Amino acid sequence: MRLQKYLASCGVASRRKCEAYILEGKVAVNGQVIDVLGTQVEEGDEVTFCGKPVKLQEDYVYYMLNKPVGYVTTVQDEKQRQTVLDLIKDKEHRVYPVGRLDYLTSGLLLLTNDGELTYSLTHPKHHVDKCYEVKVKGTLSEEAKKALQTGVVLDGQMTYPAKLKVLQQNKQTTVFELTIHEGRNRQVRRMCEAVGYPVLTLKRVSVGKLTLKDLKLGSYRALTQDEVNYLKRMSQSK
Ligand code: URA
Repeated sequence: MRLQKYLASCGVASRRKCEAYILEGKVAVNGQVIDVLGTQVEEGDEVTFCGKPVKLQEDYVYYMLNKPVGYVTTVQDEKQRQTVLDLIKDKEHRVYPVGRLDYLTSGLLLLTNDGELTYSLTHPKHHVDKCYEVKVKGTLSEEAKKALQTGVVLDGQMTYPAKLKVLQQNKQTTVFELTIHEGRNRQVRRMCEAVGYPVLTLKRVSVGKLTLKDLKLGSYRALTQDEVNYLKRMSQSK
């Protein structure tokens, strides 16, 4: 098995993150630092990450968290802000977030120690719909709605078509659902800014068919086996 895949299977992080760790020289095999990708790991090899042995882990856990505003989704924060892991009481498994949500975004966040699933779910080729509830100032114009639906240019590249459904609208604010399947950095905020409506609040309400339902803000729960199977199927579809 390739080293990056092995590390991901051990629950160190997503496969992409593991590749970065290897290139940063944080990984050793049989006492020797390996900082190139593609090295094969054989049975009996001793692999360490940051000096600590890592082992294949089949003891996977999958959680859904209702993330409050004011938490980062990185595992460590250079500004010492609270991270979503501070909300997870399970200290036995080293889980980490699947993808990211901004500090000021709330809502559905998946966490797991299954690096392979994280890798596949966050890979751009798998189109997993993510639905956000967005609040903006003023009444969203028809032009802005159309642009958000058909695509706006971010970093010189058009966004894919999105679904938009207005939930509430008056002179002061508009609340709408925007469903996208890409995961570009701060995508919803930047899309709304691009059409002249900076976001006031942003909440992710679903990932595929998984929804928050009555999960309280700041709480998390284990996914059911059906939900896990569903995510695995989604992550394998093209
Ligand atoms: N889009 C954003 O702008 N922020 C998020 O946190 C998620 C999607």
